[in-house]
Amino acid sequence: MSFKLTYATMFDPPAELHERFDAALVEVASTLGATHALHIDGVDITAVETDTRSSPIDERRILGHFPLADRTQAQHAMAAAQKAFAGWRATPMAERTRLLRRVADLIEQRIYTISAALTLEVGKNRMEALGEVQETADFFRIYADDFERHDGFEHALPDDPLSGFRSRNRSVMRPYGAWVVIAPFNFPFALAGGPVAAALVTGNTVVFKSATDTPWSGRLLADCLRDAGFPPGVFNYLNGHGKDIGQLLVEDPHTAGITFTGSFAVGSRIVRAMASGAYPRPCIAEMGGKNACIVTASADLERAALGIIRSGFGMGGQKCSALSRLYVDAAVADTLIEKLVEKMAALRIGDPCLRETWLGPMATTNALRNFGRYIPSLEDDGSSILAGGQRLREGDLEHGYFVAPTLAEAPADHPLFREEMFLPIVMLCRVRDREQAMRLANDSPLGLTAGCYGDDDDVAWFFENIEAGVTYANRPQGATTGAWPGYQPFGGWKGSGSTGKAIASFYYLAQYQREQSRTVV
Ligand code: NAD
Ligand code: ALA
Repeated sequence: MSFKLTYATMFDPPAELHERFDAALVEVASTLGATHALHIDGVDITAVETDTRSSPIDERRILGHFPLADRTQAQHAMAAAQKAFAGWRATPMAERTRLLRRVADLIEQRIYTISAALTLEVGKNRMEALGEVQETADFFRIYADDFERHDGFEHALPDDPLSGFRSRNRSVMRPYGAWVVIAPFNFPFALAGGPVAAALVTGNTVVFKSATDTPWSGRLLADCLRDAGFPPGVFNYLNGHGKDIGQLLVEDPHTAGITFTGSFAVGSRIVRAMASGAYPRPCIAEMGGKNACIVTASADLERAALGIIRSGFGMGGQKCSALSRLYVDAAVADTLIEKLVEKMAALRIGDPCLRETWLGPMATTNALRNFGRYIPSLEDDGSSILAGGQRLREGDLEHGYFVAPTLAEAPADHPLFREEMFLPIVMLCRVRDREQAMRLANDSPLGLTAGCYGDDDDVAWFFENIEAGVTYANRPQGATTGAWPGYQPFGGWKGSGSTGKAIASFYYLAQYQREQSRTVV
C-alpha cells in the first residue's frame, strides 16, 4: 500500500484507493463459490455441515459455502486452546508483540481484497469497508504498543520492612487461559480482530466464533492469524449458530473469559452465565445502543444535519453507535427537518460495489423483515413519516435488501424511542428546552454513544449530564458515530457495556489479565 488509510483519507480518498478497490472486487469475484474451513489447533478443518451464503446486494450471487462447526469441533477448539495456554503464557512479550504486528502487516497487505469481501458480504460501501479493515490492523498495532509501553503491566512494589527478613514485592499481571471471542455481524472483522488481539497479546489463547451471517469475514481474519505463524492452538476459528456453538462455549467450564459483542438480549444472558458456575469468570460484553442526539436552539443546523444523516443512515443504521433518537428544540425543528429531508433525497443508494454509492443494502433478511414490521406500525399509530418509509426494489435493486432511509416524528413516549431497531430509521421528537431533551436522552437502559449540537455552554452542559460512554459535540463527520482507535476510546455505559472500560483505551488490556502479588524473601 503506498499510502496509509487514516481518518483523513476516509473523508478525502485519493484516486488510487478507488482503482485498487475496483481491482480487488474483480479478484475476489473469481473466488466466489469456494468451500471454506474452520481453523483448529493450527490446521484448517472442513465441517460436515456447511452454510451456503449469498450477497445482500443480490441474493442470487453466491458468496461461498461456509463451515458450521459441530459440538465435537467446538470442544476440540477449546481443548487445543487449553493445551496451548502454558506455552503461550510463557512466550516472551517481544515474540507476542512481533506476531501481533505481523498480523497487522498481513491485514494491511490484504486490505483491498478483505474490504471487497466485506462489501459483498455485509453490503458496506467501500469507505466503510476499508475503514473497518484498517481499524482492525490498528487494533493489532495499538495493543502491541500498549502492552510494551506498560511493560506487560508488571511493576515493582516497595520492600516489606516488617518481617525482619527483606521481602521483595512485585505485582504481576497474568493471563486467564482459553479466552472466547464472540463477534457480531455488523463489524465482523474489526470487532473480532480487536478482542482477539487483546486476548493474545496479554497471554491468553483464543477461540473465536464468527456471527453466522458473516463467516467469510471471520475466515479472512483467521487466514491472517494462521499466516502470521502463531503456534498451533493459540488461535482457533469456529463458525456456528449462537444458540448452539456460542452457548456451548459460554457453558464450557474451561472457558476462562469471554469478549462478546452483540445485542443486549444475548449479552446480558452471557454476563449472567459467566457470573454463575463454580466461580465468576470475566466477561467483557459490548452491547446495543439507542443513541440520542440533542439539537439546541443555538445549533449550527447545517452542520447538525450533516452529522445526523451520517450517523443515522450510514451503513443503514446497522452500527451500535448509530443515531436513532433525535431531540430537537421546537424553535429550530422545522428548519432542521427541511435540511434533513433535502439531504436525504440526495443520498446515493444502490450497489455498494460502485464508487459513487453511499448506502448499500441491509446486511440481513432479518433487517429487511424488521423494516417491514416497523414502518407499518409507524403509519398505523399516527406518527409522521417525514421521509423514506419504503423498500427499494427498482431495477438492479430488485434482488437485494434495499430500503429508504427514514425520518419519523412521534411523541416522546413512542415505543420506537426505546427499542434498538438497527435500521436506517431516525425518530425525531420536538422538545421545549434542553433540560427536557436531556431527561429524554438519558431515559434509556442503554448508554453507548450520544451527540449534541449547540453553543459552548450547551456543549459543556451536555458533557456534564449525558449518560453515555462515547460523546461528540458539533461534529459534522457524525453526530454519534465514527470512533477511530487511538482517538476515541469506544465503550458503553449502562446496558451498553458490562465493564465501563472502552475498546482501545488506556484501561482495555488490563481486563484480559488478573493480578498476582509476588513476595519473595
Ligand atoms: P447478536 O446478539 O444477535 O449476536 C452476536 C453474536 O452472539 C453472534 O456471533 C451470535 O451467533 C452470538 N450468539 C447469539 N446467541 C448466543 C448465545 N445464546 N450464546 C452465545 N452466543 C450467542 O447480535 P448481532 O445481531 O450479531 O449484532 C448486532 C448487535 O450488536 C446490536 O445490538 C449492536 O448494537 C450490537 N453491537 C454492539 C457493539 C458495541 O461495541 N457495543 C458493536 C457492534 C454491535
Ligand atoms: N467504530 C464504530 C463507530 O464509532 C462502531 O461508529
